[in-house]
Amino acid sequence: MNLLVTGGAGFIGSNFVHHVVANTDHTVTVLDKMTYAASREALAELPEDRVTLVVGDIAEPDVVDPLVAAADAVVHFAAESHNDNSLNDPSPFIRTNLIGTFTLLEAVRKHDVRLHHVSTDEVYGDLELDDPKRFTEDTPYAPSSPYSASKAGSDHLVRAWVRSFGVRATISNCSNNYGPWQHIEKFIPRQITNVIDGIRPKVYGDGLNVRDWIHADDHSSAVLAILERGRIGETYLIGADGEKNNLEVVRLILKLMGQPEDAYDQVTDRAGHDRRYAIESGKLRAELGWSPRFEDFESGLTDTIAWYREHEDWWRPAKDATEASYAAKGQ
Ligand code: NAD
Ligand code: DAU
Repeated sequence: MNLLVTGGAGFIGSNFVHHVVANTDHTVTVLDKMTYAASREALAELPEDRVTLVVGDIAEPDVVDPLVAAADAVVHFAAESHNDNSLNDPSPFIRTNLIGTFTLLEAVRKHDVRLHHVSTDEVYGDLELDDPKRFTEDTPYAPSSPYSASKAGSDHLVRAWVRSFGVRATISNCSNNYGPWQHIEKFIPRQITNVIDGIRPKVYGDGLNVRDWIHADDHSSAVLAILERGRIGETYLIGADGEKNNLEVVRLILKLMGQPEDAYDQVTDRAGHDRRYAIESGKLRAELGWSPRFEDFESGLTDTIAWYREHEDWWRPAKDATEASYAAKGQ
């Protein structure tokens, strides 16, 4: 197959491209706008006869149409992905996540090409800390931020194109990813690089917010399983039973980096900050036989810390501007 992978130069999309090259015979065309979040280095060591990068915008029909026409399947990762940015300026989130997904849907409809849409557990809103429930495929949509609302809207577009036009699509909603190549605006790499720089980690609010961590490699293996064996029209939740609150994560980072575990600051909370995410991934495991490889968060985090120590050349150019943007908001 020739796969068209949108957003394939981003954190998870590039991980998926590596996973496809290592585990299949498919060729891959990456369509990526190369925003601030993209990285050519993340694709650098891939074979040129298997992976081609096309720089372009998923919201441009003239760019998207011929690429979709030439593909056997589309895996759609491209998005504006950071909640804090969506609070500063929602407009690129609306264009890429909604208009971009609409543009892809029209192309796969026209050319009858299989689509997998990559989405987030944030579409379901949040849970109370003491709620025994976790998100399932039947949880009602209740997004909180401009980012999660734009992703929820994109999911609804995909569902409508399946039902009304017979588009052959699946959707996955995954929890918080960690691992190499994640932009340092995000929680885990921000705190790792802060510690490297002698800056105290910054925890929003009371730090009791819970995220359900999964290694990006496990997200990629789940997406490939759904692409290959998922039922058309179905949604699959992806998660690895990794619930931890932000204080637990930051204390573990500090411990693994040889610092006192209380050497962090509590800073201004995020507006509308979701309290807890938690995924019930039984459908994916039972139907497709998927299971995560990284079940030990501490060892995955240890590897991730080592990776950021070894790849300072990659993240250093973005560090000052990222911290300046947070500092302007007291974060
Ligand atoms: P990222 O921000 O690291 O990468 C996004 C990529 O999309 C970048 O390479 C960027 O250049 C590209 N892009 C942005 N706008 C584009 C456009 N208009 N046209 C073409 N390319 C464009 O994001 P990520 O963390 O890798 O997330 C990838 C996908 O996975 C997103 O759809 C996100 O909603 C979803 N997701 C992320 C997580 C997570 O924890 N990071 C969890 C669940 C789901
Ligand atoms: O749940 C899936 C989502 O996970 C994805 O859809 C998003 O693309 C991805 O960015 C992530 O969203 P979060 O908002 O949960 O991730 P973030 O890394 O921004 O923050 C994780 C938690 O840490 C959250 O509770 C906010 C908090 N935080 C974040 C930063 C950047 C801090 O306490 N301090 C920080 O400096």
